[in-house]
Order: sequence, then C-alpha cells, then structure tokens
Amino acid sequence: MKFFIDTADVAQIKKYAHLVDGVTTNPSLIAKSGRSFKEVVKEICEIVDGPISAEVVSLDASGMVKEARELAKIHKNIVIKIPLTDEGIKATKMLSKEGIKTNVTLCFSANQALIAAKADATYVSPFIGRLDDIDNNGMNLIAEIKDIYANYGYKTEIIVASIRSPAQVKQSALIGADIATIPPEVLGQMIKHPLTDIGLQKFLADWEKVPKK
Ligand code: G3P
Repeated sequence: MKFFIDTADVAQIKKYAHLVDGVTTNPSLIAKSGRSFKEVVKEICEIVDGPISAEVVSLDASGMVKEARELAKIHKNIVIKIPLTDEGIKATKMLSKEGIKTNVTLCFSANQALIAAKADATYVSPFIGRLDDIDNNGMNLIAEIKDIYANYGYKTEIIVASIRSPAQVKQSALIGADIATIPPEVLGQMIKHPLTDIGLQKFLADWEKVPKK
C-alpha cells in the first residue's frame, strides 16, 4: 500500500517525507499554505519523488485541459486533479490520451468511480470522511469500488481520501485500497503506540543495570 500525504504545508511534508510515496493537494490546502500555487507545488516536487497532485479550477473541459498542460510542465511527477463532473470526465479522457496523469477527485459513489475508470483516470479519490460526516459509510464505498475495479481489471488506482483517523487507514489496507492519502496529524498518530514508549523506557532502564566494562 502506498501512503500519500494530504497537505500543502511544506514543513509537514519535510517532516514525514521518509514515510510517504506521494503528495495530494487541493485548492483549500493551497489556500491554507498561504503561498502561491505554482511556487508551493514546485517546492513539494523537490521534497518528495513521487506523484504530486495539483488541482485545476476551471469548470469546463477545455479550461481544465489548458490548466493541466501548464501544471504538467512544472515537473514530471505532477498528477492533475480533476473534479468528478461531466466536464471533468471529458478532460480526463483527453489528458489520458496525451499521457498526462490524472486524479479524479470529489468521488462519492461507486458509479462515479466506474465512470472515472472508464475514462482511463490514473487515480480516483473517494472522500470517505465527508461521507461519514453525512451518516453514510465511506469505507463501504471503498470496498465497492475495489470489487468493481477487480471485476473488469481496471487499472485506475484507488486513493482513499478525506481520511480522519488511523483506523480508517487500517480499514483501507484491509480492503486492499492502493493508496491512502493521509493528513500529517493522522500519520503522526499512526506511528505512535503507548506500549512502544513504555517498552523502550523499560529496556533503557534495564540497560543501565548491565555491567559496563
Ligand atoms: O485532498 C482531498 C481530501 O483528502 C480532503 O479531505 O478532510 O477536506 O474532507 P477533507
């Protein structure tokens, strides 16, 4: 399973670079960084050598494709994040033909994910946390997409997005999702265990009792 980090905060990306295989951003995360879009994306590409998702903001396919071509020039690892709308799917098909990688985002249903795969999207991003927020089951959606893609051998990779907890990462791994894009604070929680800290303290205390020559 691959881990992406879901942030445009360069300090956090540097902190967790050793744990991650890629980075996802979105317009909200870019705005939170307080920096210019291209500048921050360029810097992220220098930190992590893996897929870096940068999102278009046009609503029509031709505008999306135009933006995508410009973004793709920034770095070979750039993946174009495109909303799962009718126009977004048209743009995805065009970009796939040009060999530009895409991450179809704002996916909330299995049928939407099926349409993204049929458009040859490189990645699809189902937002599980936002589904849980409205009392839907985000993790069921991941399982459904996984089954559907397996039925037809679609190559589109599933990025579990809108993750809020370490338990959701574990569930994604049990289902066999290709990728989890994880906020930095959740990555930090995943690596910690109180019994690891207690065990280490005990080992170090006992080590002091070992005769030193
Ligand atoms: O990057 C997209 C997604 O992960 C957003 O998450 O927490 O805003 O629903 P969230």
